[in-house]
Amino acid sequence: KMQLELKNVALRPGDKIKLKGEISHDAEKFRIDLGVNSEDLALHFNPRFQDDADGAVLVYNSKTAGFWGSEGREMHNPLQRGSDVKIFLKLSGDGFEVELPDGQKLNFPNCTNTDVITYVQVAGDFKLKSFKIY
Ligand code: GAL
Repeated sequence: KMQLELKNVALRPGDKIKLKGEISHDAEKFRIDLGVNSEDLALHFNPRFQDDADGAVLVYNSKTAGFWGSEGREMHNPLQRGSDVKIFLKLSGDGFEVELPDGQKLNFPNCTNTDVITYVQVAGDFKLKSFKIY
């Protein structure tokens, strides 16, 4: 379920993204992908709600030429199914800072060392209501 796909944008360190949306009542997962195209992602941010191993977990990874990097898992997932949420992402150059609805800021590495984010995709069990780059 693709919610948004942006090509040919140019996001640089210091730039921020604000997403608002509703996590479906029966959400399994959704993703926010930042990179240069769908096969080359600097950050795949993938909240899951019923992961086989970990239940509610924030999975993250990168992708290079279509191949996933080494996956990371943040067990603290404050996102709630059936809720309206705001998620903030900030590019810091060597990483991505993600601020979640409980105010917690998490840092994810820019494993592919992507300088300029030119591609954004939001998909999955998340009804996107607004998206802003600032
Ligand atoms: C896989 C999943 C992908 C992606 C990846 C992240 O298991 O199929 O969609 O989330 O994990 O490491």
